[in-house]
Amino acid sequence: KKLQPTTIIIFGATGDLAKRKLFPAFYNLYIDGRMPKGFNIVALGRSENTDESFKSYIRENLENFSRKKVTSQEWAGFQAHITYFQHQLDQESSYQSLQKKLNSLDEIYGMRGNRLFYLSIGPNFVATISNHIKSSSLASDPEKDRIIIEKPFGHDKQSAIELNSLLAETFEEEQIYRIDHYLGKETVQNILAFRFGNSIFEPLWDYKHIESVQITVAEEVGVETRGSFYEQTGALRDMIQNHLLQILCMVAMEPPVSLEAGEIRDRKVDVLKSIRRITPDKVDHYAVRGQYGKGTVNGVEVKGYRQEEDIAPNSNTETFAAVKFYLDNERWQGVPFYVRTGKRMKEKHSYITIQFKPLPHSTFSDSEQQLSANRLIINIQPLMDIRLQFMTKKPGLSLVLKPVEMIFDNFACQEDTPEAYETLLLDALMGDLTLFMRSDQVEEAWDVVKTIQEAWENSKDVFFPNYEAGTWGPKDSISLVERQGHNWV
Ligand code: BG6
Repeated sequence: KKLQPTTIIIFGATGDLAKRKLFPAFYNLYIDGRMPKGFNIVALGRSENTDESFKSYIRENLENFSRKKVTSQEWAGFQAHITYFQHQLDQESSYQSLQKKLNSLDEIYGMRGNRLFYLSIGPNFVATISNHIKSSSLASDPEKDRIIIEKPFGHDKQSAIELNSLLAETFEEEQIYRIDHYLGKETVQNILAFRFGNSIFEPLWDYKHIESVQITVAEEVGVETRGSFYEQTGALRDMIQNHLLQILCMVAMEPPVSLEAGEIRDRKVDVLKSIRRITPDKVDHYAVRGQYGKGTVNGVEVKGYRQEEDIAPNSNTETFAAVKFYLDNERWQGVPFYVRTGKRMKEKHSYITIQFKPLPHSTFSDSEQQLSANRLIINIQPLMDIRLQFMTKKPGLSLVLKPVEMIFDNFACQEDTPEAYETLLLDALMGDLTLFMRSDQVEEAWDVVKTIQEAWENSKDVFFPNYEAGTWGPKDSISLVERQGHNWV
């Protein structure tokens, strides 16, 4: 796919995401020579700002957040593509002036450029912006215009359906890029290569050989400065509905016939549809929630969630969630998929563990050998590797076995790994939808967590905080897997 001259219009350009992720990603793509020949970034914000002051703010932040060094020469080239544009989200006249601005950039390209609208704003504004884009004909060319929407996409199934139909009034489905940045992570994309680029793993990839699958996304950070957002969201909506279910789809999907976007997305929807829905009376059996109290993370004492800024002192919002899913399809019958995520956990570590079935008969059963299960561990971050754990003989005169690991280290072969946002923004610039979520994927994912969401909202008798900051979460999340004879590993 070829890059065309493009104007990138960022709504919420003065916000956190823009400074931490979006501008650094565009800057790195620019240095790598991956931006289109003609491109401009129109940064929209409510406040009055000169181009100069906005640019120096961006430059300062690049120093902190860019993967590549900011040199004067490269910055000089990059900054020439940025314009600040004062804009009021709810005023039609503001969109009309924006239209003039975009037309004037088209004149420079000598053609109608592509337009990439990036909605880096809260979900409540999506409807307003989309309606104004329509009424002011900002996105008049379905072949050239695209919109990127950040998660969370709605706050439940119903609101996602409504949002999808509202967007459909302005954009075709092929113009809508619903972003889930986990899908842009190198190690997550590698799952596809690992599974379908090899012949030796796929024959083992089913209920006959796999005992259980675990997906952990553990964070050390707390709620940071996002209290008011997080209070309304919680771990189930913020992480499980999107990032963790998307990883689950990559692990569980059937082999796609090709890498065509529609094909990959179809296979993922199949997985989401096959996830057994948890009935309301079984929520406590399959799902565990938690909230951190004060504790120590990495030797530093930290507050409890209820003491953080913008958090209610009696908040019932969960900062941890663990769920056991089953997939009702031929490949995965009876295999538990355990997923868990939490803030203020013992360490930052995201990984997938595929645990293989034990031997039907052990040759070593008479000796005092403890056989460890064969496991495949896919480390997503900060480690980025794949490990196969198996038993070998300990060198020596007697026959003693020990578990060992065979490691493929992603970092060792390429130190300078692109950030997820670089991958995804480049895909959006090129018009490749594969790593973005289609409307039915999002709706189906909301459907998967629906009963848990409702049960947790309706039952207020929670005993929070129920885990100490700096630990692996509430005890119940351990029993969730131990009941089945498993452990979190
Ligand atoms: C975001 C969540 O989508 O992902 C945050 O809203 C979370 O709460 C973040 O901290 C984690 O992303 P990463 O890339 O740092 O693992």
